[in-house]
Amino acid sequence: PADGLALTPPMGFNNWNSTHCGADFDETMVEGIADLFVAKGLKDAGYRYVNLDDCWALPSRDADGKLVPDPARFPHGIKAVADYVHAKGLKLGIYTSAGTKTCNDAGFPGALGHEYSDARQFADWGVDYLKYDNCNNQGVDAKQRYLTMRDALRATGRPIVYSICEWGENKPWEWASDVGQLWRTTGDISDSWGSMLSILKQNLPLAPYAGPGHWNDPDMLEVGNGGMTDTEYRTHFSMWSMMAAPLLIGTDLRKASPATFDILDNKEVIAVDQDPLGKQGTVLSSAGGRWVVTKELKDGSRAVALFNESGAPQRIATTARAAGLPDAPAYTLRDLWGHKSYNTAGTLSAVVPAHGTVLFRVTADRHWAAHPPA
Ligand code: DGJ
Repeated sequence: PADGLALTPPMGFNNWNSTHCGADFDETMVEGIADLFVAKGLKDAGYRYVNLDDCWALPSRDADGKLVPDPARFPHGIKAVADYVHAKGLKLGIYTSAGTKTCNDAGFPGALGHEYSDARQFADWGVDYLKYDNCNNQGVDAKQRYLTMRDALRATGRPIVYSICEWGENKPWEWASDVGQLWRTTGDISDSWGSMLSILKQNLPLAPYAGPGHWNDPDMLEVGNGGMTDTEYRTHFSMWSMMAAPLLIGTDLRKASPATFDILDNKEVIAVDQDPLGKQGTVLSSAGGRWVVTKELKDGSRAVALFNESGAPQRIATTARAAGLPDAPAYTLRDLWGHKSYNTAGTLSAVVPAHGTVLFRVTADRHWAAHPPA
C-alpha cells in the first residue's frame, strides 16, 4: 500500500508462540518484554512492535458494543499498556479475527460486522499494528472481509500496520498487496524442525510477491522455545531473514538464554532481512538437501545462504557469478554468523553442519582485499 508503512519487514514480539492463551500472557509479561527490548539492545537492533495475540479480551462486549480487556490479564486496560510501550519508543500491536469470534474455544469476540467501531477503539487506545485472524468467518468472502477492515483502519486516520492472517487459504499474495502490509502464507508454525522446514518450503516460491510495504509472512519465530537446537534456530532465523519475513520474536525473553539473545540480536543477519531493496531471496539449487538461496541487496552485494537440510554435514558450494554478482577480480565474503571476512576469487563454499546454515554477504571487489582467503 502507498502509505509508507512497513517499508521493511516488521520486527517485534508476539506472545502466541510462547504462551498461547496461558495465564502468563498478561500486562506484566508484555511490559517486561518492552523493558527487555530496551535493556538488551533489541530496540537498537530494530525490534519495535510488542504485539498481543488472542485471549486478551473478555468473551462479551460491553453494553455499548465495545471490546473489554480481560481484567485478570490487563487490569489497567490496553491504553495503559500502549502508553507504557510508547514511552519506551516502541509500538503496540493487537489481535482480533475477521469472523464472529476468534479462534479460541472461549469464544472471544471477532470484528466481523464491527470493523469500524473496533478499529476506532484500537486507534483510541493507541494501537499501531493489527493482526487479523480468519476463524469463525461465516463463509464470507475473504477479500471482502479483509478489505472492510483495511478501510476501517484507514478511516481512523492512525497509521496501523495491518497483518492479514488467513493462512494463505485464498492466495493473499495475489490480491493483498494493497490491502495489508503482510499476509500469512501458511498454517501455524510450531516449535519443531519439521514444522519450520515445511513452512520454509511453502514460503520460498512466493518470492516474486514480496516487496516494500507488502510482505509474505511465514509466521512468527520459534527461536528460543526449546524444540529445536541452536543450530536449527540459526537456520530458522537465517532463512526468515533471507525471505524478508517479519521478525516477530515468539519466545518469552524474560526466560531466554544468552544463545537465544545472540541469535535474535545478530545485526548482520537482521540487515539482510531489513535490506531497503526489499527483495525476498530465491532458490538457486537444492539437490541432495544442499540449499543455495540468494538475496539481492541494495548496495549491489548478495546474501548467500548455504543451508544443509540433511542430517549429516556436507559441503555446499556455488559461485559469486551464479549468485548474481558481476565479474570481478575478487570478492569479499562476510560470514554473518562467524563475524569474519574472507577473500575469494569466486567460489562460495563451506562444510555446513547437519540442519545448519552458513550465511555470507558477498561483495564484488575491484582489487584483492586484505582478508585471509576463504
Ligand atoms: C491462528 C493464528 O494463525 C495464530 O497465529 C494465532 O493467532 C491463533 N489463531 C490465535 O488463536
